[in-house]
Amino acid sequence: VFDRIDHVGIAVAELDPAIDVLKGAFGMEVSHREVVEEQGVEAALLDVGEGHVELIAPLGEETGVARFLAKRGPGLHHVAYQVADIDSALTELKERGVRMIDESARTGIRKSRVAFLHPSAAAGVLTELVQPAEGH
Ligand code: CO
Repeated sequence: VFDRIDHVGIAVAELDPAIDVLKGAFGMEVSHREVVEEQGVEAALLDVGEGHVELIAPLGEETGVARFLAKRGPGLHHVAYQVADIDSALTELKERGVRMIDESARTGIRKSRVAFLHPSAAAGVLTELVQPAEGH
């Protein structure tokens, strides 16, 4: 179903200090930064080869990421796998009885189409499917 790992998502309280840490330690650069209202986050993508680290910080206290931070603190939030066709991937996973959070795709960072699977479906890790927009 999955083509490759697109990114790992790391939850942080604030983007800039976390960017400074990854830049200082590893020389990683931000290639994209965006407020994703639909997910209640501001996100920054840092390139690692063809993959990315996605830092996400909550836009408000009532967001899922804010609740995650309150409960578990900063750290690994999700793993995102690239798919060529997210609609057929979701249909296939549904047929297999995989537990979904999103029944259908929604808009993600850089106009990608994304959907989340329940952590219980993937060994305890929140799992994202990403179909990149044309040209990314
Ligand atoms: Co993500």
